Amino acid sequence: MKILRVDMNKLEVHYENLPEEWKLVGGRGLIAKIMNKEVPPTADPLGPENKLIIAGGPLAGTLAPQLGRISVGGKSPLTLGIKEANAGGPAAQDLDRLGIRAIIVEGMPPKDKLFGLKISKDGVSFIPMDEYKGMKNYKLNQELRKKYGDKISTASIGVVGEKKYKSAAVSFSDMLGDPSRNAARGGLGAVMASKGLKAIIIDSSGASSVDISDKEKFRETVRSWIDTLNKDVTCWLFRQFGTPLAVSTNSYQGTMPWQNYTSGRPLGFQKVSGEAIKKLNLERGGKMHGCMPGCVIQCSILYHNADGTPLCSAQEYEAVGLLGTNLGITDPDAIGRLKYICDDLGIDLIEIGSALGVAADGGKMRMGDVEGAIGLLAEVEKGSEFGKVLGDGVVSTAKALRIGRIPAFKGQGIPAHDGRAAKGIGVTYATSPMGADHTAGLTYRMPLQKTGQAANSLRFQVAASTCDTFGYCLNAVPGGQASLYSFLADLLSARYGMNVTAEDVLKIAKETIKEERKFNEGAGFDKIWERYPSFYRTEPLPPMNSVFDVEDAEIESIWDKLDGFKEPKQIWEMRFDPMPPLLFGPGVIRQLGERAKQLKMKKALLIADPIMGKLGNTDEVRGILEKSSIASVVFSDVEPDPPVEEIEKIAKLYQDEHCDGLIAMGGGSSMDAGKAAAIKVSQSGPLAEYEAAMGGGGKIKAPLPPLICIPSTSGTGSEVNSYAVITDQERAKKLLIISKMIIPNLAVIDPNITRTMPKGLTAETGVDALAHCIEGYVSKNTPFHPYYSGLAVAGVKLIGNSLRKAYHNGDDLNARMDMCMAAIDGGIAFSKGLGLGHAIGHALGAQYHISHGKALAVSLLCFVRTNKEVCKNEFWDLALALDRSEDLESALMRLYQDLNLPTRLRDLGITEEGIKALAFEVGKDAANLAGNPAPLNDRRILEILKEFY
Ligand code: NZQ
Ligand code: MN
Repeated sequence: MKILRVDMNKLEVHYENLPEEWKLVGGRGLIAKIMNKEVPPTADPLGPENKLIIAGGPLAGTLAPQLGRISVGGKSPLTLGIKEANAGGPAAQDLDRLGIRAIIVEGMPPKDKLFGLKISKDGVSFIPMDEYKGMKNYKLNQELRKKYGDKISTASIGVVGEKKYKSAAVSFSDMLGDPSRNAARGGLGAVMASKGLKAIIIDSSGASSVDISDKEKFRETVRSWIDTLNKDVTCWLFRQFGTPLAVSTNSYQGTMPWQNYTSGRPLGFQKVSGEAIKKLNLERGGKMHGCMPGCVIQCSILYHNADGTPLCSAQEYEAVGLLGTNLGITDPDAIGRLKYICDDLGIDLIEIGSALGVAADGGKMRMGDVEGAIGLLAEVEKGSEFGKVLGDGVVSTAKALRIGRIPAFKGQGIPAHDGRAAKGIGVTYATSPMGADHTAGLTYRMPLQKTGQAANSLRFQVAASTCDTFGYCLNAVPGGQASLYSFLADLLSARYGMNVTAEDVLKIAKETIKEERKFNEGAGFDKIWERYPSFYRTEPLPPMNSVFDVEDAEIESIWDKLDGFKEPKQIWEMRFDPMPPLLFGPGVIRQLGERAKQLKMKKALLIADPIMGKLGNTDEVRGILEKSSIASVVFSDVEPDPPVEEIEKIAKLYQDEHCDGLIAMGGGSSMDAGKAAAIKVSQSGPLAEYEAAMGGGGKIKAPLPPLICIPSTSGTGSEVNSYAVITDQERAKKLLIISKMIIPNLAVIDPNITRTMPKGLTAETGVDALAHCIEGYVSKNTPFHPYYSGLAVAGVKLIGNSLRKAYHNGDDLNARMDMCMAAIDGGIAFSKGLGLGHAIGHALGAQYHISHGKALAVSLLCFVRTNKEVCKNEFWDLALALDRSEDLESALMRLYQDLNLPTRLRDLGITEEGIKALAFEVGKDAANLAGNPAPLNDRRILEILKEFY
């Protein structure tokens, strides 16, 4: 493996061997080592002493997934410290295939001369590029491709780089050859310009594939990692929506910038959410792809205009945040236009978005004014007086406009994650050698907690350093048990025939940070800059109204713990959610009063289905409560699939009436309304903030008011589990909340109450319970859980024995009792996870208001068909339990026939045209889809829906 040294003074190149001790080090790590060895930290960033280093990772050329990031480094003209910025695209893979780990560009050519560097198997040559002076990135790329063919990958600077503005990026070509992948932060494009380099052209054609010492081990490691990525919920979400998926989550968290960082929840963020952008883009023929070859996530968005022509490549979250909401812009097309201009100019969109926000504050444009923003970008291109100011970034802009509130850390504009509402990120900005860089350690754990944030940030800074040092993509780090450190160690061992451990990998990542800190110490980095902008301490960020209040002492202590840092132990823990105390049996309802009293209820809010009132059940319950001297108020208007607004109404009633406990009687809708109301009256945020997909469960803090559930249907199992499903009408989707805090304090299960269920409802809710058992039994969310699996089989057996009986004779108390028990079994069993069935079921419920059980009947058939091969043995177990047969799908068909249930989507009133929209909605349900045993993608989902149309 070689280092290519390029002397721009003499216009000479030569190869050096990569020192043996650096064999496993790449990207950011290698940059830090070279910088300390070769560049005085006091060097002028744009002077002859500084160097531009381009380095790939030690696994780049292997085509193992996600390992081809390319790093660019040097001393930053913006932060005046060491800088590494990385990008996707095929460049790193090409360099590795050519045997090059790093390129070091040093010296300077005669003034105003511009060169290109062409690297191929046949050698390296300098190309005079004066003719390309002033040419923008897209045009330049076209010209270079015309000349050197389509196989090349390029790194180039646009006009902003040529002008040596401090926000200049180094732009890499993507898989389509567009210069859309930017090593953007820190002004490294200006460093490249100072070396007189306009472009680097890499042509790896004819190069042989890289050597791998133990091919078998390598393949096996890659295979199992891909499997891990395929099952990861976050990776699934990235794959579905690209990085803009974070628009909704971060807006709810209150960290997405709005109008110069004055709020963390942009007005109208829904218009630029990942879902909205995907929907719009698909209709226009746009698509998603991987930013580097071999990527299994493929989260990069090729965004199209309304007329179907391409608008920009890589419409990413940061673009939406900085070029969009931070400027008051919530039009995806406008953001796409701005993104294209930035790529073409070769400018860091975070820095310029931040600077434009300040410019708006200073009266240079209006918030929300797209043309104004475009006009200012044109000033940058022209190099007018104010254009220069803007091009030098946010600090320069604020200073020129005499604005004291500067949204920057260490000279660098703040990305679209506000550290006031995610304080671990604030610590990263304040301590990272990289300055305000979200890729240096992004963490949304315990976002609002004041303490523990140094440790929180440290963990993610080390992880980021690992990714950047080994060329791994930050968007593909799975949660759960998977260890990125072990994965990298296994791959390194297999490629280089060494015995590398996860600890070795961690050690290299730590060294990277240490080397960077050493360089920065020499550069006086911490002395030049304040630790954080003062408004972070004083200006509360709506809607969380939080400030960055992590103590200085804690922030200062962060690096003391670097040496001792170990990868958090990945204990594999089998989860057993606690069961609520159960009263089970005909007549147990009479004990309700005494038990409510034990829970210290004095005035209960009784939440119930309308039918409970009509049947006299609410009066009966109130009578029972009264005997135990418990007063009660009734809300008996719960509608099926209760919406957020209804929960707010219930919560208001609870508060107005000064209640101190909740009793929910009815189907899943009433019980879930009770659970959600318990959250609403005890927590401060909007319900959406507690959504499971956003890690909301952890935010629910005790105490919640006591809650008793009395099921009147036998389906959801809500009476015993930790789930609540509420309908978010605004987003037309089901909002899932999961928390131990909402497991009822008591479940009163009296089969008598379920006797009044009409035939249809009996069948539908019975199928819901059945789906919980079947999907739970095979779900991949928790692959091993014999306890839940046992309950699932037991539930299926009870349903097989008794659902038909309960359907034909509602008064058959034994059958009702079995079904009550089966619902509990299912309600617990699906804690193991669900799959495609519930993804379809919930989409149908939210979109078409089809009752949950009815929707599930067809959905369950889709589930069974899709997973038939993968779950052959398990489905055999279940068919035997259901009706002593062998084929689950036909057993279900027989059951549905007897229960008069629908078997096709058309039976539910879905039109054929509606199928595509339905498939889109199903695709959003990452949590359930990630649990599906057979791997799924958009195409497969559509296919199966069509099969069951
Ligand atoms: O509206 P009325 O006239 O009152 O009729 C009710 C209700 O509309 C009727 N009903 C209930 N008990 C009755 C009765 N009619 C006669 N006799 C009785 N004893 O049934 C109608 C439907 O009730 P609903 O609560 O909506 O049905 P279900 O129990 O199936 O619950 C569905 C809800 O639960 C959620 C679903 O998404 C849906 O919102 N789920 C909750 C889960 C959980 N918490 O664990 C998991 C499930 O997968 C599900 O998502
Ligand atoms: Mn269900």
